[in-house]
Amino acid sequence: MSYYERMKLKVEEIKKKENVLVLAIESSCDETSIAIVKNGREILSNVISSQIEIHKRFGGVVPEVASRNHVCAINNVLYEALEKANVTHKEIDAIAVTYGAGLVGALLVGVNFAKALAYNLDVPLIAVNHIKGHLAANYITYKDLVPPFMCLIVSGGHSSIFEIKDYINQNLIGQTLDDAVGEAFDKVARVVGLSYPGGPNVERQAKLGQDNIPLIKHKITPGTFNFSFSGVKTAVINYVNNKRQKGEEISVPDICNSFQSLVIRELSEKALSACQKYNYKTLVLAGGVSANQTLKNYMITEGEKLGISVFAPPPILCTDNGAMIASAGYYNLMNGVGLSDLDLTAKANISYKNY
Ligand code: KG4
Ligand code: ZN
Repeated sequence: MSYYERMKLKVEEIKKKENVLVLAIESSCDETSIAIVKNGREILSNVISSQIEIHKRFGGVVPEVASRNHVCAINNVLYEALEKANVTHKEIDAIAVTYGAGLVGALLVGVNFAKALAYNLDVPLIAVNHIKGHLAANYITYKDLVPPFMCLIVSGGHSSIFEIKDYINQNLIGQTLDDAVGEAFDKVARVVGLSYPGGPNVERQAKLGQDNIPLIKHKITPGTFNFSFSGVKTAVINYVNNKRQKGEEISVPDICNSFQSLVIRELSEKALSACQKYNYKTLVLAGGVSANQTLKNYMITEGEKLGISVFAPPPILCTDNGAMIASAGYYNLMNGVGLSDLDLTAKANISYKNY
């Protein structure tokens, strides 16, 4: 019997188990992370080896450098994850891995490592869509959270509103028509001279400034739940260039605050009105930008006014990590999707509809 045929049978056995341990691998960008999660909800270990310090000097992630560093880190990350979880490899029921979207060379390291591990341990290999991993960070954080609910995913690659129907299916309600919001944060940071990764630094600076710079925002998406962030990004670039040409001082805290306030208002307004239109009382935030506590607090307050509860994972589970992939992998496994053969490959771009 082939590996895949054998695993199809094994999945049925796993579904009957009381406790299912999923070991997950995440390497889509600049974090090498391996986690072990029980029943999709309980973290036994979540080891994250970040490459931020390596990429900082380049002002952003250099794909080839990221791939090489994943190769260097991944073995040690695996052993640390097993040790911290206090489990042996024999107790692992399945291997989950991010196969897309992301940097293809970086993804390939995780995917190949996962394939070797799954084959060697003779356990199912479960493919996970990175964006669904971000959403699943909430299942780990909020043990009672069950679909359906509304979700706002904001990261370096996504700014989308989804209606989460169940653990596998979702409807896209709106998305960015140009830049992802994380991209805009990173670009603004770079323009005002803040180091990579820009998002957290913009948030820090914004706390010291005021919302006093009128940034033109072309509202090209009224009446829809779509976003556009390239207008505000360009407005910041133009403002800074203009000031510099005239030899005038710029206030980095004020620029950061004005930019962040505008973006937060836009995200909040659209996501909460989507909840109202589709009758949801729960809004879940996910993705790297939801680590922004100013965003989270603003949306909680605005949500309260409308009777909508807003949730977000703690910052460490908002940015890339293996635990969220393990949780999404668990739900894939239990719902009969994502089981992959050894020809699984990395994909730079995948639809939100993919498992
Ligand atoms: O989800 P993530 O770790 O990777 C992707 O899947 O893209 O998101 C990374 C993005 C970066 O653009 C980073 O600047 C942004 O999330 N980010 C933040 C904050 N922390 C991370 N943006 C705003 N405020 C933050 N505190
Ligand atoms: Zn991510």
